[in-house]
Amino acid sequence: MEAQSSSRIGLTTTQAPFIEEARAAGDLYIHQPYELYSEENHTAWNRLYARMHDRWEKYANEHFLRGIESLCFNPDRVPKLEDVNGFLNPLTGFRAKAVSGYVPAFTFFDCLRNREFPTTITIRSAEKLDYLPEPDIFHDIAGHVPMHTDKAFADALVRFGDCAHRAAEIAASSGRDEQSLHRLSSIIRAMARFFWFTIEFGLMKSSNSDGLKVYGSGLLSSYGEIEHAIESAEVQRYPIQLEWVINQHFEIDTYQPILFYVESFDHLFELVTELESWMMNGRLNNVALGEPVVNEADLKSFLEAGV
Ligand SMILES: [Fe+2]
Repeated sequence: MEAQSSSRIGLTTTQAPFIEEARAAGDLYIHQPYELYSEENHTAWNRLYARMHDRWEKYANEHFLRGIESLCFNPDRVPKLEDVNGFLNPLTGFRAKAVSGYVPAFTFFDCLRNREFPTTITIRSAEKLDYLPEPDIFHDIAGHVPMHTDKAFADALVRFGDCAHRAAEIAASSGRDEQSLHRLSSIIRAMARFFWFTIEFGLMKSSNSDGLKVYGSGLLSSYGEIEHAIESAEVQRYPIQLEWVINQHFEIDTYQPILFYVESFDHLFELVTELESWMMNGRLNNVALGEPVVNEADLKSFLEAGV
């Protein structure tokens, strides 16, 4: 009886008792209780997926489109992580790993280093398909995971994880005085901005020179913003500059007014390497204040990384 009523409630974002229980028990890594998805959950996936199709064809970069093909999603059903990983893992060694909610910054980046992608398993309500502040399985699996099928992109993500490791080493060799914590906050803020303007909202020059294409997952999972990012005259699009990106604040609940493009994923990889060398040279120690706010859990995750 209980299973039946849970399955009616489903795994809807912010309304899933399964997730509440996991959080209450302190379980970050969980399994995907596939039987709990309700028909409404599958309908939400189907609507989200169906309406993105044409926009992906038009605006997504070629690596993403190949990724979508190789993952063989069923447009009608929420994907099983196990099935997704069956297709993904042989390509780049990456796998989606179910989590119950927010993953502190170091833990998240460290997962990338191990070719694991923390993945939300809940899905937004079918009645509210547009913006929601929380990630959901559509953002994570349809927006992020197809990119992880690309070797060069996957390598850049792993490199980013290495960079976080470096930051944790710096934290481990510093004190916990005010100045050291200010420095660590600044480094985490710089990394979060870099991640935002590349992995989440990045654009890339198209190899067949038909302009810019989208590779950032925040755009790839947004029906409205993917078009806005490419077509709108309101958006400023610039070649990526590290010194700008690390100092540029951003807001999460509005269409992005500034986007940056890379030449290729090899270029992205080089930028992560450069970010790391800037970190080692102290150039990330005092980046501009503003969003994102580095919270206690993020700081703690770096301080207690045990590297
Ligand atoms: Fe994301």
